[in-house]
Amino acid sequence: MKTDTTFNLSAWSAEHLDHVERALERWVTADAPVGVDHGAPAALVEAMRYAVLDGGKRLRPLLVMAASEAVNTDSSAPTSDAALRAACAVELIHAYSLVHDDMPCMDNDVLRRGKPTVHVQFGEASALLAGDALQALAFELLTPDDEKMPATQQACLCQLLARAAGSGGMAGGQAIDLASVGVALNESQLREMHRLKTGALLQASVMMGAACGDASGVALAALKQYGAAIGLAFQVVDDILDVTADSATLGKTAGKDADQDKPTYVSLLGLERSAAFAQELLAQALQALSQSGLRNTQALQGLANMVVNRLC
Ligand code: IPE
Ligand code: IPE
Ligand code: MG
Ligand code: MG
Ligand code: MG
Repeated sequence: MKTDTTFNLSAWSAEHLDHVERALERWVTADAPVGVDHGAPAALVEAMRYAVLDGGKRLRPLLVMAASEAVNTDSSAPTSDAALRAACAVELIHAYSLVHDDMPCMDNDVLRRGKPTVHVQFGEASALLAGDALQALAFELLTPDDEKMPATQQACLCQLLARAAGSGGMAGGQAIDLASVGVALNESQLREMHRLKTGALLQASVMMGAACGDASGVALAALKQYGAAIGLAFQVVDDILDVTADSATLGKTAGKDADQDKPTYVSLLGLERSAAFAQELLAQALQALSQSGLRNTQALQGLANMVVNRLC
């Protein structure tokens, strides 16, 4: 694995985030749908934009772009249209999952990304619909009319995202989460819940990036392992930060998991062992990259470090 001491994750992220923010601003459009002469769809779009724009770490889009660069031989090539679409699509699914996660029927949260949650701001029905519409828009982004993305690539990206978002991924994990309130899950049950509710979409981000280039079977298998390790690590750290960080830093209500009697890595292992487990997962992720045969993995390495060592 090439270790480029000149690589600067902050600079790399800033450049890529700029593309993502501008694309989201353009694609989650402020205009009412064509041919609709009614204020209600425009109000729905306002709720969608509120949920997506101006906030969030954008980790999933960054993973898409880092993986796409890792599998492309020309490391100086600009982010492809496919990678940018995939990056935004996965962020839209993530944003929708947060809108629904915060609703009174789920975690009943009032603060998200430093702002009132969507249902607090716009009402429950609008939050429900904004989530629905964001999910649909994600798949619309992956299926453009132009010729730039071959149909096979569109289908592959849709399949990766659909599988990660559905009952075998995020939504299924959320169902386990809701069914587990007050239940003491064992390590393998907790791991499975976290793998589905959070890990699947993070792993899909990596694999969608890889689908925007030519990766060997060996590289794809390694990236899958990398995605699984950071996906689980991400939720372990989310569990830790829920206990150790404050609401202002997180931009969401701290201490919710214990309040709502949710099983977490902290409730199972305690803080110290959870932190050690996250570091172990980081080592696994970096090890997978080193066995990928890919050379341009600095951004993926940096993002793995960020997932585990972040403060919010
Ligand atoms: C929060 O995700 C929800 C989980 C999956 C734990 P993030 O921490 O990535 O949220 P944003 O996108 O930065 O707001
Ligand atoms: C949410 O997990 C995972 C999602 C699929 C949205 P959490 O409920 O722990 O996420 P936060 O802590 O509210 O961001
Ligand atoms: Mg939740
Ligand atoms: Mg929550
Ligand atoms: Mg949480």
